[in-house]
Amino acid sequence: MILLLFADAPRRAEAIEIRIETLLRQMTLEEKVGQLNLVSLGPDFDPESVRQGQVGAVINFNNQHLVAEIDAASRSSRLGIPVLIGLDIIHGYKTIFPPPLALAASFDPDLMRRVAEAQAHEARAVGLNWTFSPMADVARDVRWGRVIEGTGEDAWLVAQLTRAQVEGYRAGRLATTVKHYIGYGTVEGGRDYDATRAAPTELRDIHLPAFRAGIEAGSEAVMTALTSLNGLPVSADADLLGLLRKELGFTGVILADWQAVEGLIAHGVARDGAEATRKAFLAGIDMDMTSGLFVRHLPDEVRAGRVTMAQLDAAVRRVLRMKFALGLFEQPTFDPRDAARELLTPSMRASARAAARASLVLLQNRDAVLPINPARTKRIAVVGPLADAPWDQLGPHEGAGRPEDTITILKGLETRAAAAGMAVMSHPACDPLCRTREGFASAVTMAKEADLIVAVLGEPRTLSGEGSSRAYLTLPGFQQELLADLARTGRPVILVLMGGRPLELGAALEHASGVLMAWFPGTEGGPAVAEILFGDENPSGRLPVTWPRTVGQLPLTYDRLPGGRPHEPGLRWTLRYADESPEPQFPFGYGLSYTQFAYGRPVVSSPSDGESGPLDQELSVRVAVTNTGQRRGRDVAQLYLRQPVARRSRPSRLLRGAQVVELEAGQTQPVVFRVPLRDLGFHDPDGGLVIEPGPYQIFVGGSSAAESGTDVEIKHPYRVAPAPQ
Ligand code: NOJ
Repeated sequence: MILLLFADAPRRAEAIEIRIETLLRQMTLEEKVGQLNLVSLGPDFDPESVRQGQVGAVINFNNQHLVAEIDAASRSSRLGIPVLIGLDIIHGYKTIFPPPLALAASFDPDLMRRVAEAQAHEARAVGLNWTFSPMADVARDVRWGRVIEGTGEDAWLVAQLTRAQVEGYRAGRLATTVKHYIGYGTVEGGRDYDATRAAPTELRDIHLPAFRAGIEAGSEAVMTALTSLNGLPVSADADLLGLLRKELGFTGVILADWQAVEGLIAHGVARDGAEATRKAFLAGIDMDMTSGLFVRHLPDEVRAGRVTMAQLDAAVRRVLRMKFALGLFEQPTFDPRDAARELLTPSMRASARAAARASLVLLQNRDAVLPINPARTKRIAVVGPLADAPWDQLGPHEGAGRPEDTITILKGLETRAAAAGMAVMSHPACDPLCRTREGFASAVTMAKEADLIVAVLGEPRTLSGEGSSRAYLTLPGFQQELLADLARTGRPVILVLMGGRPLELGAALEHASGVLMAWFPGTEGGPAVAEILFGDENPSGRLPVTWPRTVGQLPLTYDRLPGGRPHEPGLRWTLRYADESPEPQFPFGYGLSYTQFAYGRPVVSSPSDGESGPLDQELSVRVAVTNTGQRRGRDVAQLYLRQPVARRSRPSRLLRGAQVVELEAGQTQPVVFRVPLRDLGFHDPDGGLVIEPGPYQIFVGGSSAAESGTDVEIKHPYRVAPAPQ
């Protein structure tokens, strides 16, 4: 053991391989298959199966005591092989951070990295060693409930943030799973689990980059989606799983999602469990999450010669290698006694609060109603069912987060207002789905007594996350009517919006002067929202998804192809709706600040051909950003690219750079983007990457509507041949 720990990397790898082979030689067929079996804690769970070596990994052992028991059980099995102990640590274990979509509004990989590492720290403290995160799916339709679990609609941004999350979790010694391979973010109609489709070019231009980034960052596992892509369930698609190995060079564990193996029967590609097992395994699935079919059928498949022992051994090796690499064999049995001390510490709370602040997006600020003006405000009415809703505030996938540890928006505002000598009154007005108006009259009577109304409305957590796709994007129930009633008081109204996706705002934009998107701000969401509303912090979140006007516009992303008849207002035979603008309510990348920023003209240094050829070059784009307002603030400088003429129609805009810049009032600072030439290209249907010569346009600014631009000429063509299949 000592030797293993102190050996240098190649010797350590070699030593691991020797130990794997030694174990393999001792393992029975059943024990080998057991390593490929991931089971969940639940009514059917039998700890004896772990002692008998039939379980390689577990999920949902959700506290340190359960973890300790299962860890000890696995170590008492015949060969003492420890189990992988996984959980969906998506935005925290006990201290709950805003979910990934909200954090993506920071456009800040460093923040994502730090947050993931902090989450890993808590998870490790309770003995977990594996997270089923991050979600690398590019969410192309916000009706999909799971848009909240990922980092938005843009392939480039999702790739940067996926890489950062994998790095962060791994720095905290938690193994990661990049999921859900692949295409899940395009489920038809936004309906969770429905079919997905993507042209081969889109597969590589849009969906693969984030998986590639996560794998390059060292992710130990990839999870396959529950869905089909282009008619074939991904978990039985040998070509797609082969692409992971051959094109992306992935050598880790391929895990099928929850009962995805059994799902092959419902998909209609397998008659029974045996066939589902065979198809999934031979396509490339290493580990079966919770369908139990691998343990039931794989031994017979091997005995019958339909699956070879060599194929089985290859999968078992990958699982054992992951366990050795994590150091599980060297660790003593997990001792749960000290775990509690590591949870919800002041420093965790401080990180969660800072992360929540960075995620808040100011959408509207009419008449500079925000920040709250102490000279005009003595009493604040906080109205709405989500103001004091700790459970909703945690959002879906809350780990082991508890409502009693959560500081709600109401509590946060009360504390901050008291410090400013202001009084806060509150009234929920209705239940979270706002099904009746019975409470409205008394809420409005109370609100009339205030100088300012803060309405906290939006989606309760039940309308977001897995299995919670929506057909409507309206504010639930009578929430719009409540806002209208509040506006009629004549008091200024600020709408704090909770939710897992953009919502159809309609009349709310008239009735509320200020609108702040708070997502599900987590354990420390209350103080974070209060700090922004009171102006202690300047809002800096920017939308990682396009905000539609109405559900009928969906899917709607900023990186659309220009089309042959682009929209021209007032012209019928151009891209339009007869009854709605085709433009979004708020563009991708948008968000207000309490100050303003101006962008100079970008200056590009075009690459000259180096010895190693143009693909190794970078464009360097320099732009001056000025804070033209009255206070310090943070903007996200965004760089967009367009190739106006190409052999294929290319998106009107493509994000290729984002940098957080913090400026004092009046300060100007240069921002330099480095854009690898590779990022200018697109993929051919065969998988080759093409960078065409000719002009490219570059825009830099504070959103995807950025207007400050310049051109650059690429002199040489370049093509990277597809990986051999
Ligand atoms: C199903 C989800 O699709 C996946 O993302 C998650 O990791 C597993 N359930 C485990 O909870």
